[in-house]
Amino acid sequence: MKRMFFAVLFTAAAFLSAQTAHAAKKPAFEGYKKCGGCHKSQKDSWLETTHAKAFDLLKPNVAEKDKKKAKLDPTKDYTADEKCVGCHVTGYKKQGGYTDTMPETKAKYYVGVGCEDCHGAGSLYRKVHSKAGNAFKKSNEKSPRQDLVDAGQSFDYQDECNRCHMNYKGSPWKDAEEPYTPFTPEVDPKYKFNFDKAVKEIGKRKGMHEHFKLRGVFEGEPIPKIRAELQKGAKEPAAGEEEKEE
Ligand code: HEC
Ligand code: HEC
Ligand code: HEC
Ligand code: HEC
Repeated sequence: MKRMFFAVLFTAAAFLSAQTAHAAKKPAFEGYKKCGGCHKSQKDSWLETTHAKAFDLLKPNVAEKDKKKAKLDPTKDYTADEKCVGCHVTGYKKQGGYTDTMPETKAKYYVGVGCEDCHGAGSLYRKVHSKAGNAFKKSNEKSPRQDLVDAGQSFDYQDECNRCHMNYKGSPWKDAEEPYTPFTPEVDPKYKFNFDKAVKEIGKRKGMHEHFKLRGVFEGEPIPKIRAELQKGAKEPAAGEEEKEE
């Protein structure tokens, strides 16, 4: 009897440790502060974009005309409305992502459409960036870009955009599901999403951050289709400073 008890205990312990090992491998959202430490230029530029300010649109008496046109109540506070928040913050309802109960000091790094909404939840791949960056600095060693994919970094930007911009009833995007965006081409043709055009809406009060020169720390596939064009006019980035681990 005693032996069986221990056998059960052992199996349970093995099962639990396998579970935690698995959970530890899942990337979590961490907010833009972590990325911004090393990528200061992109962060500063992103802060000026409409994406960074997208959460404010959910506050009462903001964008009143647009809300009325989409049959929303312009006086209502939508900042905690489950039907809205997901597309106006970073990683809503996902591991490590934005929650309504986050303290303000933390939430400020998650409100708005953040780095990780387009590049993927960063807890694992940012460590690959750090390691690869150091190897490059020390001995010019390049690292495979595939390692980033394995750590959860996204290179299918169009798919990430579609999740918010193409998510409405009757959308040609096949993965559309509720909650939908109220701002559809039916409400106004200007809401029609054209990826090739939208991804080049770069700068202040536009959707996208500016681009800065990559030194080529990573090599190989997958290289985003638009990379070559966006890198052509890219400026030198300002030196970043790695965030200290808490
Ligand atoms: C410890 C510093 C550090 C942190 C933190 C960090 N990165 Fe990076 N990242 C780098 C370095 C170094 C490179 C290589 C740059 C180069 O090739 O010039 C890089 C490359 C990239 C690239 C281009 C990868 C490619 O295809 O070549 C993207 C996109 C990126 N980072 C986004 C992010 C995002 C988003 C976050 C936050 C989740 C983040 N980074 C966090 C240092 C960092
Ligand atoms: C599926 C994702 C999604 C959901 C859910 C969503 N939005 Fe948005 N919202 C967007 C996108 C994408 C835009 C940008 C549309 C554009 O300018 O093309 C946007 C834009 C807006 C704008 C600005 C419109 C303009 O013309 O500038 C307001 C205001 C807004 N949303 C409020 C809300 C409210 C309130 C809700 C909930 C009732 C909501 N959103 C739910 C994705 C979403
Ligand atoms: C998490 C949801 C989300 C993702 C992902 C997302 N967007 Fe947006 N986007 C929004 C919201 C919300 C707005 C409205 C911001 C505003 O009007 O202030 C917006 C606004 C924009 C605008 C400005 C629209 C205008 O009225 O001028 C552009 C351009 C844009 N997005 C392009 C993109 C592209 C390209 C991608 C993918 C690389 C992308 N977005 C990914 C939610 C998202
Ligand atoms: C709305 C989507 C979106 C958001 C939000 C976003 N990025 Fe990007 N980012 C892109 C796209 C698209 C590219 C260009 C494709 C490429 O070369 O990888 C890019 C490129 C990059 C690169 C490669 C070098 C460059 O400048 O082109 C880095 C590094 C980067 N982003 C970091 C960040 C950081 C840090 C944040 C947050 C402060 C952020 N991004 C927010 C879509 C986004």
